[in-house]
Parts: sequence; C-alpha cells; structure tokens
Amino acid sequence: MGQSVLLPCLGLACSLLLLLLGGSEGLGSRGENWGPQEEDQGAVAEGGPWGRARYEALKKHFGAVGALSKQYWQLLACKVWQEGCEEEQEEDESSPRPGWSLPLVGQDYLEILSAWYCSFGKCCETGDCRVVNNITGLELDLSGQLHGQHLAKEVVVRAVQGFLQSPRPEKALVLSFHGWSGTGKNFVARMVASHLYRDGLKSECVRMFISLFHFPHHNYVDSYKVQLKKQISETIQLCKQSLFIFDEAEKLHFGLLDAIKPFMARFDNKGQVDYRRSIFLFLSNIGGNTINEVALDFWRAGRAREEISLEFLEQQLRLELLEPADNGYARSHFLEENLIDFFVPFLPLEYRHVKLCARDAFLARGLPYTEAALDEVARMMVFVPKEEKLFSAQGCKSVSQRINYFLP
Ligand SMILES: *[C@@H]1O[C@H](CO)[C@@H](O)[C@H](O)[C@H]1NC(C)=O
Repeated sequence: MGQSVLLPCLGLACSLLLLLLGGSEGLGSRGENWGPQEEDQGAVAEGGPWGRARYEALKKHFGAVGALSKQYWQLLACKVWQEGCEEEQEEDESSPRPGWSLPLVGQDYLEILSAWYCSFGKCCETGDCRVVNNITGLELDLSGQLHGQHLAKEVVVRAVQGFLQSPRPEKALVLSFHGWSGTGKNFVARMVASHLYRDGLKSECVRMFISLFHFPHHNYVDSYKVQLKKQISETIQLCKQSLFIFDEAEKLHFGLLDAIKPFMARFDNKGQVDYRRSIFLFLSNIGGNTINEVALDFWRAGRAREEISLEFLEQQLRLELLEPADNGYARSHFLEENLIDFFVPFLPLEYRHVKLCARDAFLARGLPYTEAALDEVARMMVFVPKEEKLFSAQGCKSVSQRINYFLP
C-alpha cells in the first residue's frame, strides 16, 4: 500500500528536491543543534501502519542522497511526527534555536514539501479516511496526561465535542492556543489529531504546518499562499472532516493568514466547497506573558490556579491581541473578524507539574522511577520569576530527554 501512494510523490517534485538538496552545502557541517525545539510534554502521535511504510520508503529513497538530506528528513519527521528525534536531542539548551536556514529556497518549496506528504491515498476517495472522533478518549487522556491546564482541557473538549455533534455547523471550528512554550499546546494538538483520526497526525486529513519550516522565506509569501490554499482546499474536498494545525502561528506572515481566512469564515453558500467540517488550530506564544502574569497574581493572592476563569483570561487575551503588534495575527485582523471561536489559554507550569511530566516520561519508556528522580529532573529546570521561582521557564519541554541522565 505504501508503494502505490508513494509513486506520485517521486515524480518531478521530488527530483527537484534531490537537486536542491544536492546543490546545497554547509548545512550539515556547522554542527548546530538540530534537535526538536517544540516538543511539548512528550509524544502521542500514533502511527498508522501505512503512514509509517510510506515514511520508511521515502526515507530509504532519500537516504541515497547522503547524510545532509537524511538530516533534513529526520528533522522534518521529528518536527511533524516526533519520529527519529532521538539522535539529535543531546545538547538542547546551549545553542539558541537555529534560524531554520534551510538550503531550500526554490519558488516551489512548499509544493516540494507537500509532495512529501504525497498525494491522497485511497481512503480519502471514499470520503472516510478513518475518522474515529473518540471524544471520551480525548477527555480521558487529557485528564491523565495534560498537567496543570484545567482551562485548556475543558475548552478543547467542549469545543471539539460541540462542533462534532452539531449537525450543521455555521463555520469551521477555529481554536487559538496561547501560552509559553512547553506548556502543552503541541501536546494537545497531537492529542486532538490522534483521537479524531485513526492515523493521527499521519492521516491524510490532518495537515500540520510549522511556520518557519514550511514558510521560511518572506520573499516567497505569494508562492506559499497559492500552495497553502491549494493544499487546504484539496484536503477539504477529499475529507469529510479535516484538521489543520498551524504551529508557531505568531510567526505566520499576515499574508498567509489573510489567504486562509475564507476557509474559516461563515459559510455563505456561494462557494462550491463546504468548509464547515474542518478544524483549525493555531498554536502561538502570543499572550503568554499576560497569562503568566494572571497566574502569578492569583498565586500571590493565595488563590488556587484552578480559580482562574476562562472569561477573565479571554478578556485579557483579546485586549492583547487587539493591540497593534508586529505579528501576523494582529495585522490580519483575525480577531476583529470573529474568526476565532475559542481562546485556549495554557498556564505556566509549576514544579509539581514538571514532576508529573517526568513521571509520564518514565512511564512512557517503561522505566521504574523514584520520587527522588522526579525531583531531580524537576530541579534541572529553570524557574521564574527570580524571586518566587514559581514557573518552569521551559514548561515541560525537554523533560522527556532529561530522564536520559537516569538511565542505567
Ligand atoms: C478511545 O480512546 C481511549 C483512550 O485513548 C482508548 O482507550 C479507547 O480504546 C479509544 N476508543 C476507540 C473506539 O478508539
């Protein structure tokens, strides 16, 4: 099965990619940190067998090009599917994030990337694509594995459930996740994908875009726009229910946001395609500081973080998003046009939450742990602000790698 869907991908677009990769030097030699940067709370992406087969086949194919491209594919697979991340995760903290200065600068860069996702398999032609919509499971797993996020858990479950149960939604569901990195935005997005689709992130009906990865060069925004719109409308046409995840949304060019607005607007019956059966998730750190200040104020007032209400935070987030700012979000007037249905705030994580993440990481690897080991992992993190040392500056990010130190 992997073979048949692979073929269309190995045509012109992929040869072009080989050329581009072949002609670029210097990427591998700089010894930069290419590990994953946004791995919130560990991986849950589930792999359908044929998705993996396709990936393996591609990997083999590109393996011939040499170490440089292998590294590239590994990076992409790691970012999107959190697969093959192990080898590069050691020094995750010393160097700042690399600029994603990938050697791919061709006009049709995005087309090449989308070719990597390959064309549609058979399942989508039947319009089913193995949608499972396991809301009970989503709620259960969020309760067990998402730590310190009472608001995010509640809003996401309520919003997704309400949307899926509605026989005739007025528009696509748009959720905007806000919070510091490492607080679980990525984790929740992956959870949603894996509980709505049998193949999770590898489903043909799920598309994940990472701003600096998929749209790295502002010079090519026009080309990205065309490709992005094409990919979204193709997915929507072939799937009865689609999911689009935009990671690092604060770095999305406003031109791109503008281009996809029609997919999220109220259905006017004029267009040919019905976009109402799709879910858009935007993950950004916009408003992260506002959320943290609210959490800190509650703590200083001796109140439990669970008392923080969505209404209060949403109001604060709206105010911040309405401020003129440099991000594409503000410039695209997303908010004014009421495209966002729910704001999903992710609170900063405390010491006890980091310990829970460490526990999960041990459990996920089937390793025994002690309370002392969990404390030791948590103590490796930096806590802010300086005086209180209350919140983990990195959330639970890289906690799962840190338990490597405890391996025998
Ligand atoms: C729903 O999700 C839960 C938790 O992940 C899982 O145990 C259960 O088997 C799933 N149910 C179906 C029908 O996939």
